[in-house]
Amino acid sequence: MTLYEGRIAQSSNALMDAINRSLPVDIRLLPYDIATNRAWAAELEYLGVLSGAECAKIYGVLGRILERYQSGDLDVLPDDEDVHTLVERLLTDELGETGARIHTGRSRNDQVACDLRLYLMDALNKLVVDARATIRVLIDQAQAGIDWLMPGTTHMQPAQPITLGFFLGSAAAALQRDVERLLDAGKRAALCPLGSGALAGSGFAVDRERLAHALGFAAPLPNALDAIADRDAAQETATVCAVLAGHLSRYAEQFVLWSNPQFGYLSFSDRWSTGSSMMPQKRNPDAMELVRAKAARVIGQTTTLLTLTKGLPLSYAKDLQEDKQALFDVVDQTGLALKVFAAALGEAAFRRDKMEQALTADLLATDLADRLAAAGVPFRQAHGRVGTFVTRLEEADATLLSIPEGWAAESFPELDLIARPLDYEQAVEGRAVFGGTAPERVREQLAGLEKWLANS
Ligand code: ARG
Repeated sequence: MTLYEGRIAQSSNALMDAINRSLPVDIRLLPYDIATNRAWAAELEYLGVLSGAECAKIYGVLGRILERYQSGDLDVLPDDEDVHTLVERLLTDELGETGARIHTGRSRNDQVACDLRLYLMDALNKLVVDARATIRVLIDQAQAGIDWLMPGTTHMQPAQPITLGFFLGSAAAALQRDVERLLDAGKRAALCPLGSGALAGSGFAVDRERLAHALGFAAPLPNALDAIADRDAAQETATVCAVLAGHLSRYAEQFVLWSNPQFGYLSFSDRWSTGSSMMPQKRNPDAMELVRAKAARVIGQTTTLLTLTKGLPLSYAKDLQEDKQALFDVVDQTGLALKVFAAALGEAAFRRDKMEQALTADLLATDLADRLAAAGVPFRQAHGRVGTFVTRLEEADATLLSIPEGWAAESFPELDLIARPLDYEQAVEGRAVFGGTAPERVREQLAGLEKWLANS
């Protein structure tokens, strides 16, 4: 007896299979489906639907199915529609009637929702590991460059001096929030749909608390209709990944730019670079470019997931089958991007000399205005005076670090710029407010991150 032979006459239809058969995508849920089947068999034994001996047999066959999957020699038939029907068919082939009882009180609807949440819990844990490893690399690189001066920009234009440590610390801070979001999504993923039946709750008196705990969930979902219909755990995971991938993309772009010899702030090791088929001199930062691109894909798939449930009537509709390729892609690509980003960055060589060479005196204009304001000049006036001064310097081919004799005393009688000239290091050290670029503050931020890594 095939799956719905009682109702639907089976005839082979290649096009229907092409659109309906999800096994090639959802086969990777098999380990979770085995877990779901085990928990369900145990519950059926509690209810007396299966004897202890039958349940033991089911456990044995499920174990062998998992082994065969892991060693790549499962015998899959063209009629196996999805991972759930495959496992049921394999059980029934081996155990006859005993296998045919496993679907008592259960639907593929609660099965797939359950498998998906088990997968999500694992996936989120793995992403947390990858994101934490990336933060580790960022902390180490930031520590090494804690007092390496470089131009900080806004609008891509020279703004104020900062340090490399501060810049890399910014990426670590962003990823720290991503980890918190992944962990938080994990809490909501850890709710169990099994026992919800097709939509209305199982017709057999299974203990959903016991089922949830047997599978490692925190609790059962409280409404069967919602448990079957919603895919918010997948959507939330994807959204968190989209934000994370967006962070990686942005920093990857920055590093691509810095690897251009016109900046020259860093070079990637050969392992993370490629050459050109035509231009012999080329050294391309492909690894980071691809990390930059992954965000497009992750955001696209996240949009697919969000759109799938928009306006979808409750409870289950086959539309929901399309969630898996999108979700798997989001998780795979985010994990890959994290690993490559961390490895390529870990092996990148930053060039202190190039960063220092890129410092220009105009980066100190805010410092001069700040000093005037500290001396009592209203800031708006200080800003105006420095602006005019910088223009005058430019016309005279001079800079704030090569002020023509007499100009400073004449334009800024409130200050003694001769005794205390403007200075990049001082500018950085002077930004010692909490979260500022001063090395002591960045050290504090990194120490905070270390502590968080050790305790979270
Ligand atoms: N392969 C299906 C999916 O991924 C499993 C659920 C099928 N349910 C159904 N009522 N046809 O969504």
